Amino acid sequence: MIYAIVHIKGGVSKTTNAVHLATESAKRGPTLLIDGDPQASAASWAAWRREAGHHPSPTTTVLRGKAIFDEGKVLSKGFLNTIIDAGGRDSAGLRSALLLADLAIVPVGASSFDAATMTDLQEIIEMAKDFNTNLKVKILMSRIDPRTRNTETAEMISFLKEEGLEILEAVVCERVGFRRAIKEGATVEELGKDKSAIAEMRALYEEVL
Ligand SMILES: Nc1ncnc2c1ncn2[C@@H]1O[C@H](COP(=O)(O)OP(=O)(O)OP(=O)(O)O)[C@@H](O)[C@H]1O
Ligand SMILES: [Mg+2]
Repeated sequence: MIYAIVHIKGGVSKTTNAVHLATESAKRGPTLLIDGDPQASAASWAAWRREAGHHPSPTTTVLRGKAIFDEGKVLSKGFLNTIIDAGGRDSAGLRSALLLADLAIVPVGASSFDAATMTDLQEIIEMAKDFNTNLKVKILMSRIDPRTRNTETAEMISFLKEEGLEILEAVVCERVGFRRAIKEGATVEELGKDKSAIAEMRALYEEVL
């Protein structure tokens, strides 16, 4: 299965969720992590991970633009799952990822800025669906303030549902454990400290992998 973690907005936690999903998938079978972002954050995480000696690791490769589709299509055949971390703007790379994916996961926060960018992203997704009829899209409520989780997400979820979008049950909150884990080339489970973060990621794995 090919997953693309996408948004046209930066900093929404695409890379954080992509590396967590890829690492969990790597425990279950051969997994390819495609870093499709010119900032190459997933590739940096993979290098820190090698240095820190954590395992198992997804096979990580950096691809750009149209190569995400062309190369990704061939490379992904040898793997149980492929996870693509696409860059945080509308680009050839993002569009390639959407053409290749079976499931696009879109991390969305709960603010009105997050709501505003959804319309533009939806247009891109609709276009991709004309060519990739397999494509499913699910919204992941991510970086949610745990204190206002229920009220804020409820508003956003009803907005997204009105837009005809499907929303994952798993919700990932803003938790310091995620930042710490990424810096160490690890996952929140591997650091073992942030129980809430660990539970949130487990719920996500069970729902999508
Ligand atoms: N659930 C979370 N809780 C706390 N911090 C988080 C969470 N998810 C991501 N972050 C932090 O937010 C910042 C942005 O996250 P990340 O790099 O995963 O987003 P991105 O969408 O890949 O960004 P970019 O568009 O720059 O590629 C990072 O500093 C990361 O550590
Ligand atoms: Mg990123």
